[in-house]
Amino acid sequence: MCGIFGYINYLVEKDRKFILDTLVNGLSRLEYRGYDSAGLAVDGDKKNEVYAFKEVGKVAKLKELIVESKPDLKKTFDSHAGIAHTRWATHGQPSRLNCHPHRSDPKWEFTVVHNGIITNYKELKALLESKGFRFETDTDTECIAKLAKFLYDQHPDIDFTVLAKAVIKELQGAFGLLLKSIHFPHEVIAARKGSPLVVGVKTGKKMKVDFVDVEYSEESGALPAERASQNMAVKKTATNLLAPPDKSLLHRSQSRAFLSDDGIPQPAEFFLSSDASALVEHTKKVLYLEDDDIAHIHEGQLNIHRLSKDDGTSNVRAIQTIELELQEIMKGKFDHFMQKEIFEQPESVINTMRGRLDVANKKVTLGGLRQYITTIRRCRRIIFIACGTSYHSCMAVRGTFEELTEIPVSCELASDFLDRRAPVFRDDTCVFVSQSGETADSLMALRYCLERGALTVGIVNVVGSSISMLTHCGVHINAGPEIGVASTKAYTSQFVAMMMFALSLSEDRASKQKRREDIMDGLAKVSDQFREILKLSDSIKELCAKKLQGQKSMLLLGRGSQFSTALEGALKIKEISYLHCEAVMSGELKHGVLALVDENLPIVMILTRDEIFKKSLNAFQQVIARKGRPIVICTQGDEEFPSSKTERIEVPGTIDALQGLLNVIPLQLMAYWLAVAEGFNVDFPRNLAKSVTVE
Ligand code: F6R
Repeated sequence: MCGIFGYINYLVEKDRKFILDTLVNGLSRLEYRGYDSAGLAVDGDKKNEVYAFKEVGKVAKLKELIVESKPDLKKTFDSHAGIAHTRWATHGQPSRLNCHPHRSDPKWEFTVVHNGIITNYKELKALLESKGFRFETDTDTECIAKLAKFLYDQHPDIDFTVLAKAVIKELQGAFGLLLKSIHFPHEVIAARKGSPLVVGVKTGKKMKVDFVDVEYSEESGALPAERASQNMAVKKTATNLLAPPDKSLLHRSQSRAFLSDDGIPQPAEFFLSSDASALVEHTKKVLYLEDDDIAHIHEGQLNIHRLSKDDGTSNVRAIQTIELELQEIMKGKFDHFMQKEIFEQPESVINTMRGRLDVANKKVTLGGLRQYITTIRRCRRIIFIACGTSYHSCMAVRGTFEELTEIPVSCELASDFLDRRAPVFRDDTCVFVSQSGETADSLMALRYCLERGALTVGIVNVVGSSISMLTHCGVHINAGPEIGVASTKAYTSQFVAMMMFALSLSEDRASKQKRREDIMDGLAKVSDQFREILKLSDSIKELCAKKLQGQKSMLLLGRGSQFSTALEGALKIKEISYLHCEAVMSGELKHGVLALVDENLPIVMILTRDEIFKKSLNAFQQVIARKGRPIVICTQGDEEFPSSKTERIEVPGTIDALQGLLNVIPLQLMAYWLAVAEGFNVDFPRNLAKSVTVE
């Protein structure tokens, strides 16, 4: 996930300081969408000159860079278009070079910022390289700017919208993008397909800002790039991209989407953003672009074009007035970030696997580990080191890790590991798992292991964080920014990332092939299964109100790998609902904790089907015999627990190695609804911080 922001003023004089401040502030608002690097492009001092500023790290660093660069802040612009971006790396390491905006050439003839993924960028890159373009970055985005220049060079009379349509028709994948060009000064193209984009409008008094008509693209005659895209599939692109365009498409089409009521351009300002949270401080009048919309902002007007005609889209877009507060907008339709993040999990696990898990060819590719895989396969042991939720994800995969790799695996709480000054050797592989990548205990344990010569691996969410920089190699889990203090989507993405790590390590083991394939097939289904489980949210809310709300203490029982699920569920419940919840290994119940059980103590038992199900049932019987009435998390349709006798939360079945991924979701929801019912601050629980940077 990345954030994009644009600011266009027309017939409203602004100095460069105002323009830069507006762009930088817009990025700060969007920083939650990504913060490994940031950049922006504005007009230079001379005609056809572009100033681009790019910096690794948070938006504050970009701000520092701009101050150090000492641009003439007093220079004024009657009309101007600036675009900006805050990045969360998907293709290419966070670096100044890979940071947006990207350019077509050293003169910055075309400049682009982009959120999303262009899945066919390799093909486009190969084509453009064959035409003499030299790529400067590892990103998928750069091909957009270069493709625009390539098409423009063939047809210098082309209209910006026609050119943009031709470029966008070539792009596969998901995107929200802004395009600016020295050939079309003070104009911006904004387009979306899959990634959000909102236009904020601020106009003078004379402007009527209610509706914008949508202009459809001409269907008569193929655009040059349309022909190209047809041919790209058969790799004959070059000749067709050079074909003369249909002349009728090259004139500047008469706009039908004036914002001014008399058709005469009026002073106006436009703000473009990945979400409305960055717009509200400027204007409450917004227009949400839809997929396949291409918005053209020029001469104080906003025109919206569609990629294709008659696709059922309304030809009128209302300008809406947003009444919401900033925090509410960022949360979208959800009441809390934690709730949003729980519901994001079907997408976040896909992002963790994207480009890495190839189910069809039964292959896992983890680029960040490639150079080290052989060394890790030969190591004496693997030590997972983490804290809190991240530690639980290590415990959840430990069994499968050992099974697939046949390497001894241990899980260590970073603080305890350091307190014990545990022995570490040069032939150990130490894996540091952390959402933030900044947790002090984990970071100190990492330094301790580095001093002892061990190979270190990071499994981290935040790109550019200390753990991701200090480890020898690693995997970014790509869950996207997690704002709620209680970790949810990072847990499931860590689980998936580590499972892929184990699959990658065991690739050379013929005896594990069947098992590996079963796990890969299971991973491919996880996202849909998450969606199914999330539908239980309302019934879990009711169950919490009926059975758990107002209680002082509860038990959460699990066995085998489900003990880690119980630990994670209990932590979630404790940290946000402040209800004491103890995770108990089911096999240990009879060794003491059973004394607590009676008809009053709330108990949740994880009893999904796996190899040790029969043993888990023993604990269930022990609880029932003491008049306990547990809530059971069981496999869909399991008749062992008739709903007439037991409160059930049914989850889909999957391979045992992945069942914990599914089972944790109802527990996250349970914690969430319990906290909401008590009226607690779900996103910022008392005494806790998102990133624990003290020992
Ligand atoms: C609980 C939670 C914490 C963190 C722990 C480690 O919901 O979020 O237990 O998991 O503080 O943090 P990271 O993963 O950032 O190292």
